This record gives sequence, structure tokens and C-alpha cells, in this order.
Amino acid sequence: MDQKPLKNVLGAVAALARGDLVGLPTETVYGLGADATNADAVAKIFAAKGRPHFNPLISHVVSLEAAEALGVFSPLARKLAKAFWPGPLSLVVARQPDCAVCDLACAGLDTIALRVPSHPLMQQVLHAFGKPVAAPSANVSGRPSPTTASHVLEEFGDTLTLVLDGGPSLVGLESAVVAVTGDQATLLRLGGLSREALEAVTGPLLAPDASAKAAPASPGMVLRHYSPRAPVRLNGSSASSGEVMIGFGPDFDGADFNLSPAGDVVEAAAQLFAVLRAADALNPSAIVIAAIPETGLGEAIADRLRRAADP
Ligand code: TXA
Ligand code: MG
Repeated sequence: MDQKPLKNVLGAVAALARGDLVGLPTETVYGLGADATNADAVAKIFAAKGRPHFNPLISHVVSLEAAEALGVFSPLARKLAKAFWPGPLSLVVARQPDCAVCDLACAGLDTIALRVPSHPLMQQVLHAFGKPVAAPSANVSGRPSPTTASHVLEEFGDTLTLVLDGGPSLVGLESAVVAVTGDQATLLRLGGLSREALEAVTGPLLAPDASAKAAPASPGMVLRHYSPRAPVRLNGSSASSGEVMIGFGPDFDGADFNLSPAGDVVEAAAQLFAVLRAADALNPSAIVIAAIPETGLGEAIADRLRRAADP
């Protein structure tokens, strides 16, 4: 923790060019970034996170045009990109034959996950760097994702050349991951875009093939994830002594934390991971979380909380 977050876009670009790891702000969560075309640099991401090599990374690019140099976009994929980029959507498409992203970043698959983030500092980094940046969420595998620069320093302070401080992530949940093959769209991960918003563009989204257990369509979707150290109890109404209560809505005035006193799921999404970390820092015997309606971003919040609570 002896490093200070720096608002230093050119420093971040120089570090990426050297093959170093950099903490980068995005509107969803902070990323642990490396040059996606440099396999040695990408290998450092897997080592730092303790991430299994079969779990591919998202490559971040500055524009749809840059994305189309790496992946094959069907008309539906292009329509989704035009509707939601820059923003909290990752598209999984076939790799271009001459895709510059290294095989390790794609975990050897013939598909690639691509995203154009909207955070202005990340946009500046991508523009100045001129190459794709591979970046998973900047947390040790299994832990809650980071939504501030100091969370990133808590997780990786020693491993990083620098963390670019872009303030708190406004969305607070990772991107929605949608695989597009021709005119078929499959929702691989709920995230910072609601199902309703996506389906307004795609029509009903397909579910990942449950029969494909041996080679899961989204290798990252293991159950336990996003977990604080303390056990998590869901849909609770009060905490016993030694426990911490995370409320939602006006009924939880006296709770230790409240994800949104007004009962707004968008605000709750933005607060979720920071509040989980703050609750965990109190070393409670358990973290009790109030019920949150599963509408809009509430569906993705429920997904993250189920994983956080998995024993
Ligand atoms: O908001 C986000 O998506 C953040 C920020 C930093 O962009 N990144 C992020 O990355 O959450 P990560 O690595 O934590 O999650 C990426 C997800 C994983 O579930 C991974 O399995 C899936 O995307 N994924 C990546 N490439 C894929 C591919 N080719 N096919 C299927 N799933 C893929
Ligand atoms: Mg992650």
C-alpha cells in the first residue's frame, strides 16, 4: 500500500507498452490491465489473480472499428455494439483469422470477448495505447470486484506499476456478457445492462447450453465468486449481535449499511461491492443482506449475491 493512485494516462500507457500490469478505471468495475497482444504481459494477469488458464479475458478497445479488426461481427452483433457501446456490454464473437490478441488472453478458444468501455480515462488510455487491453476485474479470483482505485491497491498494491484513479465506478457491476453467433444472442453473464434493455435490441436472449458442462460456454461462471471473508446470509431482515446488516430501501434506516435508502436498484448496483468490502472489514460473524427486487439491474445483483453467499 505504499503506492498512490495516479491520474496519469501517459504513465499507464507507458507501463502497458513495457508489458507491466496497470489498474484501470472503467464504468463497470476497475480492471487489471495488460497489453492483450503480449502473451508474457497477459500471463502476469493470470498469475496475479490466481486465475485458471481456461478462463478467457475480455479485450478492451477504443471503438467498434477496432473491435471489428479482432472479431467477426454479424449484423446482430453490430446492432448490439451500436446500441450499447461505449458501455457495460461485452460481446463474444468469432476471432478474426489474423486477430492480434494472444491465444492466452482467449484461453485458446476460437472466440473473443470484446468491450468498448465508456469511462473517459479508460477511453484516453485505449486511444493513446492504440492496441487492445486485456483486463479482468482487478480482484483476486473469488473476491468482490473493485469499484475504487483503493480497492485495487488493497488487492494488488505490490504487483502494479500504477493504478489510474478514475473515481468510483458509476455502474458498479461487471459488464453483461452476450455471445453472438449469426442472428442468435446468448446471455452468458448478467451485468451492468438489464435483460430488458438487451432484449429490446435482440428479442428473447438464449440461455447458455446447460448440457455443455464439460466446456461451459462462459468458463468464468463458477458458482462461488464475489465473496467477502465473512459468511453471507441473503434475504434477511435483521442482524444478531456480531453480525452486520446491509439494508435496502426505507425500512432499513437503522441498518449498518444501506445499498439504497430510496430503494433504487441502479444505486444499489453502484454501491454493492464497496459495501460488501466495508461490511467485511468490520470482521463480522456474518453479513446479512436484505431482499432486493429482481427487476432491471436487480437480476444481476441477485446473481452476484447468490455467488457471494455460496458456501
Ligand atoms: O465489466 C467487466 O466486464 C470488467 C471490466 C474490467 O471490463 N471485466 C470483467 O472481466 O469482469 P472478468 O475477466 O472478471 O470476466 C470476464 C467474463 C468471464 O466470465 C469469462 O469467462 C467471460 O467473460 N469470457 C471471456 N471471454 C470469453 C469467451 N471467448 N467465451 C465465453 N466467455 C468469455
Ligand atoms: Mg471478475
